[in-house]
Amino acid sequence: MAKVDVSQSIKALPTHFFTELVERVAGMMSAGHDIVDLGRGNPDIPTPPHIVAALAEAARDPRTHRYGPFDGLPALRQAIASWYEKRYGVTLDPDREVAILFGSKIGLYEISQCLLNPGDCCLTPDPSYPDYWSGLAMVGARRYEMPLVAENGFMPQYGEIPADVARTAKLMFINYPGNPTTALADEEFFAETVAFARRYDIVVAHDAAYHAIVYDGQKMPSFLATPGAKDVGIEFCSLSKTFSMAGWRVGFALGNAEVIGAIKTLQNHLFAGLFPAVQKAAVAALTGPQDCIDEIVAVYQERRDVFVESLREIGWQVEPPAGSFFCWLPVPEGYSSFTFWQLLLEEAKVAMAPGVGFGKHGEGYVRAGLLTSTERLREAARRIGALGIF
Ligand SMILES: Cc1ncc(COP(=O)(O)O)c(C=O)c1O
Repeated sequence: MAKVDVSQSIKALPTHFFTELVERVAGMMSAGHDIVDLGRGNPDIPTPPHIVAALAEAARDPRTHRYGPFDGLPALRQAIASWYEKRYGVTLDPDREVAILFGSKIGLYEISQCLLNPGDCCLTPDPSYPDYWSGLAMVGARRYEMPLVAENGFMPQYGEIPADVARTAKLMFINYPGNPTTALADEEFFAETVAFARRYDIVVAHDAAYHAIVYDGQKMPSFLATPGAKDVGIEFCSLSKTFSMAGWRVGFALGNAEVIGAIKTLQNHLFAGLFPAVQKAAVAALTGPQDCIDEIVAVYQERRDVFVESLREIGWQVEPPAGSFFCWLPVPEGYSSFTFWQLLLEEAKVAMAPGVGFGKHGEGYVRAGLLTSTERLREAARRIGALGIF
């Protein structure tokens, strides 16, 4: 038996803080506890039937059983560009400015591989989606954290980043609607981001996984609609939340042709494209009726309203999220995000995600996903209320 010694890159991968917690919740469930699980970010709404039907039909066609083109089906790249233009008024070249991804998660990893060398600096939001850290760790890049706090509307304060840090940064991640903060960005913030990135030659990676999940009839502007954005960056979009297709693994990166080109080059070495039938179903999602997006958002909005109202009724003063399908809830005095998470799980049998798992500025919060029925959300609030701490 050969001695297996994994590479430094594998050893450098951050341990997934949430893996252990998810296992603990799963362990309690299999021991028979009725847990209201609001801890994870897995959409529970089924994919709209016309998209499922398109997959079924395409899967019956033997032509989809072969390898597709490395860059994906031209029809899908065209559908992505047309969809984005219709939604946001931004014209994209489907050949040079669109890369198809196995979900945006892989793209958020690949961009570090494409742009960074060991020791390079990347600006990351704190708190943030932890998967940005994996790509950075694999290339041995350094992270400089940009605090996102309530007083600043969960926006990075570019003026507070020391010039010598900004000068060495090659890449930065931003994410709106934010996970976990739920905050939305506006045109002014995106313009500031482009100006900052230009001044210091930083590539911007805007993670827009939740771009369609915005409430109260609002719409978040596109980063790429910002003048100059294509010169400095790319945007990551996903069908996972927009069309409730998380398991299908379809995302895309859009924008700066050089960065998109590098992603495609890397992907040519790693993959031979998504299952063509899935790509055809993605075309059906993007070119078919779009009211299914409004229907999905309406379900989350109703859950949000019920949950926020139920929490307020038990005396927990929380703000409704503007976007994403999470609530970012302040923990009561006397608890850390972790001790409060433990109390909720053990005493109320409600699972959330402790904010500190998203970065040190996530301390003081827990994240709850609106990914269960209004009845279960009411039940979660009732159980928390019964703890008598608010
Ligand atoms: C902020 C954020 N970005 C990206 C992703 C990845 O989504 P997908 O790979 O399904 O496109 C997620 C998934 O939960 C997320 O929360």
